[in-house]
Amino acid sequence: MQISGKGTFITIEGIEGAGKSTAIKFIADWLTKKNIPHVLTREPGGTEIAEAIRGLFLAHHQETMCADTEILLMFAGRAQHLANFILPALQRGEWVVCDRFTDATFAYQGGGRGINLQRIADIEQWVQGELRPDRVIVLDLPAELGMQRIRTRGGNSDRIEQEKIAFFERVRQIYLDRAKKDPARYCVIDASQDLEKVQTEIAKVLAKLGEKL
Ligand code: TMP
Repeated sequence: MQISGKGTFITIEGIEGAGKSTAIKFIADWLTKKNIPHVLTREPGGTEIAEAIRGLFLAHHQETMCADTEILLMFAGRAQHLANFILPALQRGEWVVCDRFTDATFAYQGGGRGINLQRIADIEQWVQGELRPDRVIVLDLPAELGMQRIRTRGGNSDRIEQEKIAFFERVRQIYLDRAKKDPARYCVIDASQDLEKVQTEIAKVLAKLGEKL
């Protein structure tokens, strides 16, 4: 896959309860105020077919979903999302703000489910070629706190949300490991602190990225 676009690709990651939705709203407002053309999207999902895959992935089933099936579903949706939404937007020169992307596959299927990380990297290369997010914002917090926030929010848990704390701690660890290995592309923000502080840090990341425009 060739990347010929001039857009900027940002992804927001973190375990459940980290505050991704609030962060994304803040980013969208920031970009709007600066008159920067942008689109918001999410994974799994983002196109009609990829949203159908999301539904299948998150639903409860009688049968256990294999970890390999989870990975292949994630990358099937991602191929669709890239071809029909992300790459066209980047080629138009827009910013693409994506709620989760491939780091989530490393974290959830690699860390959470224990799938070999190299196998995920091989599929990543196949589906994405050289395309990687310009910046990955990792909203970090202890799994226990994330789960508390989810419980307070209420509602029914999806297939992943019903996992145990230890699963989300493994997910968190992979996000942190990946961020440590590539500090130029990743930014870890302490999501347990006040919302205002989180937003100040996000604004700094955006301003720095915006400088290259
Ligand atoms: P969310 O959009 O509410 O965060 O739900 C998406 C769920 O899907 C979340 O639990 C993380 C999980 N997920 C994976 O397991 N692998 C992936 O590659 C992605 C993008 C999400």
